[in-house]
Amino acid sequence: MSTENQAVELARSVISNVCKVLGTNELISVSHAHISGISYFNIGDYGLKLIESLYLGGGKFSVFTTANPYAVVNTDFRGRRFHDDIVNKQFKIVKYLKLMGAKAFTCAPYFIREPKLGEHLAWAESNAVLLANSYYGAKTNREGGPSSLMAALIGRTCSLSIHKESVIPKVEFRVPKISNELEASVLGYLIGLKDPRNIPYIKNMSITDFELLRSLLAALGASSSVPIAVLDTVTPLQAYRILDINDRISISRQDLIRFIKEHTYDSKHLPKDTLLIIGCPHLHSNAVNEILESIKGVNLANYSMELWVIIHTNPKLGSKELTALENRGIKILHSVCPVVTKLNELGVEAVITNSCKALHYIPKISKIPTYLMSTKEILRLCRR
Ligand code: F3S
Repeated sequence: MSTENQAVELARSVISNVCKVLGTNELISVSHAHISGISYFNIGDYGLKLIESLYLGGGKFSVFTTANPYAVVNTDFRGRRFHDDIVNKQFKIVKYLKLMGAKAFTCAPYFIREPKLGEHLAWAESNAVLLANSYYGAKTNREGGPSSLMAALIGRTCSLSIHKESVIPKVEFRVPKISNELEASVLGYLIGLKDPRNIPYIKNMSITDFELLRSLLAALGASSSVPIAVLDTVTPLQAYRILDINDRISISRQDLIRFIKEHTYDSKHLPKDTLLIIGCPHLHSNAVNEILESIKGVNLANYSMELWVIIHTNPKLGSKELTALENRGIKILHSVCPVVTKLNELGVEAVITNSCKALHYIPKISKIPTYLMSTKEILRLCRR
């Protein structure tokens, strides 16, 4: 057997076994695979070994492939860094994925390659899956980390659920008007909490702004298992059918305000080493200049705080500009995810973010309190 066949044959066998367990023998070709689960903190030595063995076994991605961001191991928090052993292992994972053909490391793969209407994908990042299906009208299930990796190698995945069946929402939501990305995120999160399993139909959808939709769908992906939300006036009509709606749920503006209040920090008790995060999911790199403009002259280093702004690709800033920002406690990061990083091991004591997805996962992974604030308020906090 040639070495090349080892990786491909393993991938074929894993995919066909997964499909059998899920109830089908049929595979479908995909045009873009997006791999998740590449943080060393999540997959450990076992995951590193698997990815290494696929590369050494001749693995090459056979379709356009992107991967999720990795843990923030290449930057410090107030001078504290991870041990070299962790840094080296994380970068080995990244190296093998790049060598096999991964084009980028971001949770916004639609900024790298836009999905097309009706196109079949094998994506494994929930926020991206929801956007691909709900906004672009593409077709991808919520793949797991290993299945997306194997699908990238063979260019195929199980022909199931959204690849085969019509999308038929079962629960209708009436939602209030939204004024910023934080409210959009809370709305998405509450929709998922109210019904985490059934595909929602959001009827009186007033949000058409792409950034707000991204916030809403990322949060919905965190609190539910659905691969799509049918958004009135947004989701392409070809992508779904409305038949019987089993349930109708209303979410009011008061519900959003109450949730935000419950997750706002108490200014008297904000821990010393607090991290502010904007960019979950990753911002488009064009957003950076706007943020920099609004924090001109800010020096967070005086307050034991740092601001991490995470974007989808290399910032168009020189290394001198980046260092000047870092000296002020502001870091522009790309290719990384703070949420899949053990921030507590860097000495971070609390996080303030505009993302309910970060609110959902950071206390679980890093065991530190996490609070909500809109981007505007976070930037205002920086200027206090
Ligand atoms: Fe992206 Fe990490 Fe948030 S993968 S969506 S920044 S949890």
